[in-house]
Amino acid sequence: MTRTVYVNGDYLPETEAKVSIFDRGFLMGDAVYEVTSVLDGKLLDYAGHEARLARSLSELGMTNPISAEDLLAVHRELVAKNGIVNGLVYLQISRGNAGDRSFVFPDASVPGTVVLFTQAVPDLDWPTASKTGIKVIAFDDLRWGRRDIKTVQLLWPSMAKMAAKKAGCDDAFFVMDGVVTEGSSSNAYIVKGNKIITRPLSNDILHGITRAALLTYAKEAQFEIEERAFTIEEAQNADEAFVTGASTFVMPVVQVDGQPVGTGAPGTVAKRLREIYLDEARKAAI
Ligand code: PDD
Repeated sequence: MTRTVYVNGDYLPETEAKVSIFDRGFLMGDAVYEVTSVLDGKLLDYAGHEARLARSLSELGMTNPISAEDLLAVHRELVAKNGIVNGLVYLQISRGNAGDRSFVFPDASVPGTVVLFTQAVPDLDWPTASKTGIKVIAFDDLRWGRRDIKTVQLLWPSMAKMAAKKAGCDDAFFVMDGVVTEGSSSNAYIVKGNKIITRPLSNDILHGITRAALLTYAKEAQFEIEERAFTIEEAQNADEAFVTGASTFVMPVVQVDGQPVGTGAPGTVAKRLREIYLDEARKAAI
């Protein structure tokens, strides 16, 4: 089925949507993005994604070319036009078409490019991987130093995923200075008893919207939260490990760099947290 996508004010069939070859997103990776999940036709954690988008743009000195009201309307319109029940909305805003290639930013009068499209994922709430768990490898974190900004510069995370695939695994835990930063497209956690351990927020990791929501819900459910970095070895010896992200929610990690975590099967804490997250996020969905 041909999707309807959104480009700079127009709803178009995906085959007709165009962006200039001089767009800075294409030439320079000069663009930010958000991925918002959709369950039962409703947007999850939308306010968080909207706020992080504003922060990413501001950190890069970009103005948002679309109003908050219009952006929400486009999300909803695309979900409706494409009949999305469960799935994702991808949003990208670049610094726009500079009319040529130059390292220097174009004049602020050049409008940013706004692109949105949907992806249908019928089993988004309980995919097979959420029941079997995923296997991760350790991978050097060689990304740039502003991982708190959600830019489209995703080549290293893609290389990490490919290395994981080559090793017969699903994903990677990035490692910097001997400790885990985050997953290649997720935040990383370990569980010891009733305690959930995850790296504190800084420029070293993306400030996950799912992370923020989950930590709030976990505290309410009487889990203890410890925000500190952990090593690969600690993850291998933990009771459980898991990752969070808008497209994965809470995903159990059952193997870290060749070693089983806990029993080697998804643990009860990750399962409970996934249930809690899905319940609460569904209640708050718009
Ligand atoms: N990735 N860390 C990184 C490096 C990420 O790319 C993501 C999300 C997260 C989790 O953030 P959130 O909970 O706000 O989705 C953490 C998205 C889903 C992606 O690139 O597809």
